[in-house]
Amino acid sequence: MYYPDEVIQEVRERTDIVSLVSGYVSLQKKGSNYFGCCPFHNEKTPSFSVNTKEQFFYCFGCHKGGNAVTFFMEMENLTFPEALKELADRAGVTLPQAELSEQEKRRIEERTRLYDLNKEAARYFYYQLTRTDQGARAREYLKDRGVSEEYMRRFGLGYAGIGRNTLYNYLSSKGYKTEEMEKARLITVRNGKIYDYFFNRLMFPIFNSAGQAIAFGGRVMGSGEPKYLNSPETEVFNKRRNLYAMQFAKKSRRKEALMVEGYMDVLSLHQAGFDNAVASLGTALTQEQALLIKRFYNDIVLIYDSDRAGTQAARRGIPILEQAGLRVRVLRVPDAKDPDEYLKKHSPEDFQALIDNAMNPIDFEMLVLREEHKGGSAEDKVETVKGMAQRLAEIDNDLERQIHIQDTAEKLGVSAEALRKEVEEIRRTTGILDRRPASDNAAQGREEKITARTQLLSILIQDQSLVPIVRKYIEPADLKPPGASEELEVFVRVAQALYRGSEEGRTILAADLISQGADAKDQERITSLLQYPRPESKEDLEKLLSDVIRKVRLDSLEARLEALSSGESTNEDLAAMQGIIIEKRKLQNFMIHIP
Ligand code: CTP
Ligand code: MN
Repeated sequence: MYYPDEVIQEVRERTDIVSLVSGYVSLQKKGSNYFGCCPFHNEKTPSFSVNTKEQFFYCFGCHKGGNAVTFFMEMENLTFPEALKELADRAGVTLPQAELSEQEKRRIEERTRLYDLNKEAARYFYYQLTRTDQGARAREYLKDRGVSEEYMRRFGLGYAGIGRNTLYNYLSSKGYKTEEMEKARLITVRNGKIYDYFFNRLMFPIFNSAGQAIAFGGRVMGSGEPKYLNSPETEVFNKRRNLYAMQFAKKSRRKEALMVEGYMDVLSLHQAGFDNAVASLGTALTQEQALLIKRFYNDIVLIYDSDRAGTQAARRGIPILEQAGLRVRVLRVPDAKDPDEYLKKHSPEDFQALIDNAMNPIDFEMLVLREEHKGGSAEDKVETVKGMAQRLAEIDNDLERQIHIQDTAEKLGVSAEALRKEVEEIRRTTGILDRRPASDNAAQGREEKITARTQLLSILIQDQSLVPIVRKYIEPADLKPPGASEELEVFVRVAQALYRGSEEGRTILAADLISQGADAKDQERITSLLQYPRPESKEDLEKLLSDVIRKVRLDSLEARLEALSSGESTNEDLAAMQGIIIEKRKLQNFMIHIP
């Protein structure tokens, strides 16, 4: 791949990493560095840092790090040469003809062809809609639904004709190959016959946030199944990572993003002046989409259809958005099935008023529970209160939880003290609830546990003067993640050697540590401990150390909690569990200071 190193360096030097990152993450200056919430993992407290002097970024939470080019690659889902090219353009650096590996060349070419192909298809559909007799019915349909010509153009709407391979013929005449069209999922080949994937549908092209056409959604006009047909995933279309209309919404000047259910809702909202509306692509909201929104917004209003499915979707969506660090409010559209319908009956000002009055997620939960138990009997009320207690127990921040308990108690007409007891009881018996979806929890958790320990040992090996500080909090046994395989015993032995050395006032040489390994694999593991960079500044070191100590302590506490809460719990067990929960809370603010 090979751009000469000097050129890559020049692009890096001419790219100010702070302003590049600021396009995605809201940064705050602390000392000579900047901090913000990490765009690569879910967090609410900033552990993502940008080092201005060395021009690199590093996240103390997920340990991702790199320079301007790698950052840009990650954020825009680009290959290295693509990222370098764009940054070079922005910085006014002319790149020499690149020498790419064959594989890279092929991948870039393939992706470029797919983007072009989708663009060409979108143009064709647009032409069919606006210029042909066949398209008249689709034009009529859009007119009936109140879509203006300006917005047809802006969203690139189109019409896929009645013929079974009109698009195929058109794209062939433009020089595209059958295999390419198949890869773009614009055609299907069955029994040697070629069919356009979409026909006789109103077409909504889908763009990535950079504005490149990546897929389509097609709606039947009138009745027919399925109502919407979406492109299957391709090399350039990942449903989880994209949102409909994000290319516009990212430029909106409005304060909060609006998340709605349908393409038509988005269209109507934009036309009514809400250029901050996006929709997921016919699937449940994902973590990746939440993080995509978080790059451009801190606030979001979830707007869901007033049916049962809509309500459940909102309930599922809330924690995903919150975990991405977004402040969430929920809006259930009154007097209409969805925002599109609402805007047919009411003005944009009315809709703005709805947004201004959108509910916080706790009030939304209360509304839902009250509807579920609307009998008005004592039992119904008990169920509602219990459901609320469950929801309130999920609020991790103490102050926030107490405030919501107070508020909820008032609204439900029960005593705040009684509700608080119920909530704290739930928290005690279930441990502090982790609302992360269970699926990615386990594997990610395992990785994080190992990384934290690797990092801790790595720092200690490089700077053994830190051992006396760390040993106050961490025992050698803590270095083996709870439940990890015996292989990681080696971490414990390394810690023991370091602690012993510190007691005896000796510095342990890396070579000596390596000999702690029982076999070649062990020794490899120890060697890998030597490769983590130690943060330059004392401030960063303190933060990193505090972070990893906190993590390691938390794991141990959690393991103990789990052991105590399996099986029958005695009174002593309960007391011990309480003690552990209090310790867990204290850890949240844990910070060490290096003299
Ligand atoms: N959807 C889908 N496949 C379907 C039905 C729906 O992918 N068979 C997705 C589409 O993104 C659609 C959204 O779910 O926009 C919401 O569906 P629905 O509420 O049924 O449609 P509306 O957006 O209200 O569409 P319209 O107003 O055109 O009926
Ligand atoms: Mn609708």
